[in-house]
Amino acid sequence: MSLLIVGATGTLGRQITRRALDEGYKVRCLVRSLRKAAFLKEWGAELIQGDLCKPETLPPALAGITAVIDAATTRPTDSLSIRQLDWDGQVALIQAAKAAKVERFIFFSILDAEQYPEVPLMEIKRCTEQFLAESGLNYTILRPCGFMQGLIGQYAIPVLEKQAVWVMGDSSPIAYMDTQDIARFAVAALQKPETINRTFPVVGPRAWGGYEIIRLCERLSGREAKVSRMPIGLLRAFQKGLRFFQWGWNTADRLSFTEVIATGKPLTASMDETYAVFGIDPQEITTLESYMQEYFSRIMKKLKELEYEREKAKEKARKKRSPFKSATAAKSATKK
Ligand SMILES: NC(=O)c1ccc[n+]([C@@H]2O[C@H](COP(=O)([O-])OP(=O)(O)OC[C@H]3O[C@@H](n4cnc5c(N)ncnc54)[C@H](OP(=O)(O)O)[C@@H]3O)[C@@H](O)[C@H]2O)c1
Repeated sequence: MSLLIVGATGTLGRQITRRALDEGYKVRCLVRSLRKAAFLKEWGAELIQGDLCKPETLPPALAGITAVIDAATTRPTDSLSIRQLDWDGQVALIQAAKAAKVERFIFFSILDAEQYPEVPLMEIKRCTEQFLAESGLNYTILRPCGFMQGLIGQYAIPVLEKQAVWVMGDSSPIAYMDTQDIARFAVAALQKPETINRTFPVVGPRAWGGYEIIRLCERLSGREAKVSRMPIGLLRAFQKGLRFFQWGWNTADRLSFTEVIATGKPLTASMDETYAVFGIDPQEITTLESYMQEYFSRIMKKLKELEYEREKAKEKARKKRSPFKSATAAKSATKK
C-alpha cells in the first residue's frame, strides 16, 4: 500500500510518517518546502512539492497512491486564512483523491466540531467531514481534541524558566493525547475495514484542567509556577477588536476557539468503541503523568549536566586566576 501523507511536517503528521515508515509502508509526503521537510527524506519518505491551495500540484502527488492520511491545517503563523486552507484546500484534496481513485482517505477533524457553529475552524471541520462523507471515497474521520506536545510550551517550559503560566479562568478540561498514540490509530485504520466510512473520537485517558497540569508540572520539576489568570472576557474583547483589521482576521478566528473552552464543559469522549474497533490496548496509551514525567526527567538530567559543566568551567577559571597558584608557580620556576 502506498501512502500520501499531507501535513507531514506538522506536530501530528511527522509522527504518522514515522509510524507508517516503521510499519513498512511506502510513504510519499506532500510538502510545501523541500528544505524544511528534509528530515522526512532522511527517515525514508519520498518528498513531493505541492500545496493544498494550488490544486494543480495535487494530481501528480496522488499518482500511484492507495491511501491518503491528511493531517494538514492552517499554521497560526501563515498568511493563509483558515477558510483558504481548511476548506478550499481540503475540498480540492478530496476531489483530487476521488479523481485519482484513491482507496482510503483518513482525515483529522476536531472533537465535537458540530457543537460550535459560531467557531470558524469547528464549523469548517464539520463541513469538511460532511463533504468527505458525501464524496464517495472510503473515509475514516478521527477526532482528537488536544495534543500533549502543545503542553510543553504552554506549561512545562514557563514553569522551568520561572516565566508566567497563563491560564484561563474556569476553562474546560481537555483529554490530551500524545501524537505518537494518535498516529497509531491513523495507521491502524488502513488495515481495519471496520473503520471505513466511520468517525471516531481519539482522545486521551482523562480530561485535565489548566491548574491540574500546573500542579503536575510543579511536582515533577520541584519548581513553583508563577500563575497568571487570563479572564475569558478579556480574550473575547480582544478577538472582537481584531475583526476590525483584515490582518487580524486569522488571529480573531483562532481566538474564537475561546468559546469552546469557555463553556467549562470537558472536552472528552468515551474511547471504548475506538479501542475495540482499532484493536488497540488502552493500557498502551501514554498518560499525561507519564508523558510529563518523561519530559521533566530528561530535561532535569540535561540541566544538571549543564550546571555541572558550568561549575567545572568556573572552578578552572578560578584556579587560573588564583594569586597563590601563580605565586607557587613562580617560586618553583625560580628554584629550577
Ligand atoms: N493541535 C491540536 O491540539 C489539534 C487538536 C485537534 C485536532 N487537530 C487536528 O489535527 C491535525 C494536525 O494538527 P497539527 O497541530 O499537527 O498541525 P500543525 O503542526 O500546525 O501542522 C500543519 C501541517 O499542515 C501543513 N500545511 C499548512 N498549509 C499547507 C498547505 N497550503 N498545503 C499543504 N500543507 C500545508 C503544514 O506544512 P508546513 O510545514 O509547510 O507549514 C504542516 O505540515 C489538523 O487537522 C488539526 O486540525 C489538532
